[in-house]
Formats: sequence, C-alpha cells, structure tokens
Amino acid sequence: MNKEQLMESARSMKERAYAPYSKFPVGAALLLKDGTVINGVNVENVSLGATNCAERTAIFTAIANGYKKGDLQAIAVAGDTADFLPPCSICRQVLAEFCLPDMPVYLTNEKKEILELTLKDLLPFAFTDLEM
Ligand code: THU
Repeated sequence: MNKEQLMESARSMKERAYAPYSKFPVGAALLLKDGTVINGVNVENVSLGATNCAERTAIFTAIANGYKKGDLQAIAVAGDTADFLPPCSICRQVLAEFCLPDMPVYLTNEKKEILELTLKDLLPFAFTDLEM
C-alpha cells in the first residue's frame, strides 16, 4: 500500500467520526508491517476530556488486536483543514510509545497534498523508554 492509498483510507474514515461537539471529523489509517491497515476516528464525549483522537483510536485498536511495539509502519491522518492537520501532542506521545522515531507520519490538506514527516520531526527529544 502506498502513501496515497493509506491517506485515502484515512480520508474515507472521516464519515465515521463521532464529533458532535467540535464538528471536526478526523480519520486515521495505520499501516502495520504485515500490510494490515487499521483505521481510527475521533470519538468525542460530552465531558470533552474523555474524547479520543483518531490516531489513538487506531493505535489502541492495533494493540488490542495483538500488534506490538515495532509492528507499526506508517500512519496517515486526514481532517477537513485547509492546512496540513498534525497529530496533537498526546497522540505524538502515544506514537512514541509504540513506534520507531523514523516512522513516517503522513499529513494532508484541502488540496489533498501529502506532507511526509517522521515521528521524530513531530516529537524530538521524546520521553520514552523504548529499546527497539
Ligand atoms: N483530533 C483528532 O482526532 N486528531 C488530531 O490530530 C487533532 C484533533 C480531534 C479531537 C477532537 O475530537 C477534534 O479533533 C477537535 O479537536
């Protein structure tokens, strides 16, 4: 699967987002090293604080399905933003728990351009005890 296909998977997930409060749907597509794609959406809550971002939904689902640290190959994130939508800081920290620093993170904008970054670009000098 190439990055365009992965991003299309993230983009198409937005319609499943549960975002009645922010009205800001986000979709994520997580590519595993075995070729599996696991999707996520943001799931909001009236308490707001209990909201889960699309990226974390995808990562937690992967872990719940038996995938381990180091099994994650890339993640794509799509929202309805004019500019590239970056993962929030909590999601960056969760990515750092399970992903190598050089894992690609694909962002997109309203022109459907794809910006390829790495986790390390998004979270330099990360607090982590990873030994991968
Ligand atoms: N959100 C995500 O799901 N991922 C991001 O990368 C940024 C923000 C969600 C959280 C919340 O439901 C809504 O977008 C507005 O912040």
